[in-house]
Amino acid sequence: MGTVSQNGVKRLAMDGAEVVVFPAPAQLFEAAANEFFRTINDCMKRDSVCRMAVAGGSTPKSLYTLIADRVDKGQARGIDWARVHLFFGDERCVPPDHPDSNYRMMKQTLLVHGLTAAVHRVQGELPPEEAAARYEEELREEFGDGVLKFDLIILGMGPDGHTASLFPGSAALNDHTRWVAANYVERLKSWRITLTYQVLNSASEDLFLVSGAEKAEALAQVLKGADLPAAKVKPAGKLLWYLDAAAASGIAGR
Ligand code: 6PG
Repeated sequence: MGTVSQNGVKRLAMDGAEVVVFPAPAQLFEAAANEFFRTINDCMKRDSVCRMAVAGGSTPKSLYTLIADRVDKGQARGIDWARVHLFFGDERCVPPDHPDSNYRMMKQTLLVHGLTAAVHRVQGELPPEEAAARYEEELREEFGDGVLKFDLIILGMGPDGHTASLFPGSAALNDHTRWVAANYVERLKSWRITLTYQVLNSASEDLFLVSGAEKAEALAQVLKGADLPAAKVKPAGKLLWYLDAAAASGIAGR
């Protein structure tokens, strides 16, 4: 049934994943920020480039703002940001200044206060297939002859169990050759650009951030291994779920 720490944080092991339930969203984002900086600092100690893919949507905004604040307050010394390469788990097919753009959201949250990581933007303004092909090229250049292995991929999950822009019933769920796919999302009547499972499942660590009661039902299904996109994320490395109590209200032992 897991362990409970003094500050009410519960840790559960579920089907190869570490599930951590925080009483409140603020604690979830503090822990996620710690994981973000731990990953970077580990790479700095290994004198290697740190490659991360980060989530879009609204949940991670609080995380990105918290990270930027810590940098602003000088709590992230010793990081050579030029060796931190940030990619996107997915992007909407819109220009970078569009209200729906994940890049725009990152610029307004994570990239304030002079955080000068190398940001690899998806060119959402291009035709979808071209945007996906160019992003895949950029990824292949990034990993060169090395192994495709992000140090950390931060993911969200929708109330329908989607993650990145891998939505239920969409074609990209079955794309096992490309690293980046242009994916038409019927429910949204729009195109998205998304990393595919090949990339998500080759990471050293996938970290899901899920907050809010509206996700409780889908989350309970996903953690039981239901046939939902987020349930198919099974990285070669670590799989971490950071939940708040509201999102975890549907799982046993929470
Ligand atoms: C996006 C995301 C997407 C997101 C989920 C959850 O571009 O929207 O990458 O996968 O993580 O939809 O979104 P919220 O955090 O807004 O609930």
